[in-house]
Amino acid sequence: MTRGAERGDGAPASDELGGVQGSPPSRVTRGAERGDGVPASDELGGGSPPSSDELPRHSVYTRLLHWSVAVFFILSLLSGLAVYSPWLFRWIAPLFGGGPMTRLLHPWFSLLFVGVFILQFFNWLAPMTWSADDSRWVRRMPEYLSNQEPLEPEYVGFFNGGQKLYFWSIVGSAVVFLVTGLFMWFPPHGSGRSVVAVSYVLHDVAMLVMLVGLIVHIYEATAAAPGTFKAMTRGAVSKRWAWTHHPAWYRRVTGRNPREDYDLERRKTGTLNFSGAPSSTRKS
Ligand code: HEM
Repeated sequence: MTRGAERGDGAPASDELGGVQGSPPSRVTRGAERGDGVPASDELGGGSPPSSDELPRHSVYTRLLHWSVAVFFILSLLSGLAVYSPWLFRWIAPLFGGGPMTRLLHPWFSLLFVGVFILQFFNWLAPMTWSADDSRWVRRMPEYLSNQEPLEPEYVGFFNGGQKLYFWSIVGSAVVFLVTGLFMWFPPHGSGRSVVAVSYVLHDVAMLVMLVGLIVHIYEATAAAPGTFKAMTRGAVSKRWAWTHHPAWYRRVTGRNPREDYDLERRKTGTLNFSGAPSSTRKS
């Protein structure tokens, strides 16, 4: 049996397969068992309960943080583009009340983004912890991108290596944004000019990393893997989605074998493709 860190979802060792192995699939799992580090009391509160074909994935608290981070990041991005690249994004400034107002608002949107992301950082620190399985996942990324396999490898836990890379790229970018942003906001005396000049460059590099990451993220969370978006709206996903994309997590919360359930479903409904929809693709 693998430990949380080895399993790839960073859940504590006390939360091992044994604890949930053999439990009925319809059992509602606790936050800690799920591997997202959210206390059981925060479980899906306020939303409709998942159906018997679904598994709870993100608590209300997690979803609230996610959408707050998303809103403040997009506001920071738009206001930043309007202020620092007016030759291309001049049309954005009127949305924020004109150039001076946009310049005033940008650092405050950004501080709110960093502030809410700090809460999300601690909320997701355990399931985002890097493990040897994540390095394995990254090495087989070409196969992931070409959809060669209908199911993810059985070691993929609550988050896969790509999701963790995205998370840690945001952590790095947020630190760079904060430090360089403060230098640009309050230029230091003395050697200030070169510090500010370097800050502009690093700020832009962090913005480009975040922008590319966000485009890939939105594609992965919507079109690439149908059924994912619901994880951040309803807070639940279908079991089919879970055994397809996060087999180790599925096994841990249901106590069932993801491959067996996939085969069972395939026999019932015909061949399934990688995203869980019927197709002619065959499992190797
Ligand atoms: C605006 C459109 C966005 C959509 C449609 C979206 C959708 C989602 C969904 C569905 C998930 C859950 C994935 C899962 O449970 O496996 C997720 C997770 C996540 N989101 Fe977003 N999100 C958006 C914007 C953002 C922004 C702006 C950020 C940060 C600046 C962000 C950061 C994250 C992170 C770090 C995760 C966890 C890792 C991952 O799934 O990649 N999201 N998002």
